[in-house]
Amino acid sequence: MRERVAQIRHEALTALSQAVDLTALDAVRVAVLGKKGSLTGLLRAMQDVPPEERPAIGALVNEAKAQIEAALDENKARIIGEDRARSAATERVDISLPGRKPPRGSLHPLTETLDEIVSIFERMGFVWEDGPEVETDWHNFGALNFPPDHPARDAQDTFFLENGLLMRTHTSPVQVRVMQRHQPPVRMLAPGWTYRNDAIDATHYPMFSQVEGLLVDKHVTLGDLKGVLKYFVREFYGPETKIRMRPSFFPFTEPSAELDISCFVCHGSGELDHAVCPLCKGTGWKELLGSGMVDPAVFTAVGYDPEEVTGWAFGIGIERVALFRYKVDDIRLFFEGDLRFLRQF
Ligand code: PHE
Repeated sequence: MRERVAQIRHEALTALSQAVDLTALDAVRVAVLGKKGSLTGLLRAMQDVPPEERPAIGALVNEAKAQIEAALDENKARIIGEDRARSAATERVDISLPGRKPPRGSLHPLTETLDEIVSIFERMGFVWEDGPEVETDWHNFGALNFPPDHPARDAQDTFFLENGLLMRTHTSPVQVRVMQRHQPPVRMLAPGWTYRNDAIDATHYPMFSQVEGLLVDKHVTLGDLKGVLKYFVREFYGPETKIRMRPSFFPFTEPSAELDISCFVCHGSGELDHAVCPLCKGTGWKELLGSGMVDPAVFTAVGYDPEEVTGWAFGIGIERVALFRYKVDDIRLFFEGDLRFLRQF
């Protein structure tokens, strides 16, 4: 019995001192002190010991038990200490390491172009108005003086939806919505997406964006339109830029005019390095936008009195402006989301 106690104690203390983790420690505890543990078994076997020897053997077992428990505590502290030392060595934080910066985004070139156009008109008191991209035929065409079956509708290759609605082909329906909501005077800007069923190529995309401008009040003239557009062009393209207006046609304006600006590559000369200017093809002019005096039929459609008020409107294509501004030669680049392209701005 005495040898057995000594043997169990010796084995337990050796196993504890060699344990590398807390799981191994606990396994030793269960094997020796657990319900079916070796030392526990010895205590149970006490009845086989002659009565006169029992107190001495009992004391021996209890002493062994106390030693093993103390060794358990010591080794637990040892293992925890070793763990801490190991993680302190491997998980050290290098505070001199530069931090990881989250990638910085930038504004899309179309957004940048739009923002700058809008900010120039906002300085003149124009207010940003939104409208739906899915429109009724009446807002996109009818109220804007496109008669049913008129060939002018063909020019706006329209995406018709199954429910009789359509994707707006221009931002002009926002004019209609704003005038229906507000009595004159109106001084608004409507930037937004527009859609046309165009074949995709370097200058056409089925989705593009426009900024619409509308001014309605008493005694508004074509001279006001010219003055406002001239201010805009000089702010955007530089003070030396010249403008000219060419007669044009839109069903919702009469008279209508296309606004040209002097070519910003050859400065209106039509020549670059003794050759024909590649941008304006030698004309010295570049078409910028469509505009005109609001047709009285549009005022009537929205409930304004054309005898009381006059007004004008214009529409600028943002992609066209951005293509020239950033010297990009393919409109598709704006829509592909290719970071190699976008990071250049
Ligand atoms: N809505 C016309 C277009 O998309 C542009 C325009 C707007 C013309 C306002 C005149 C006045 O082509």
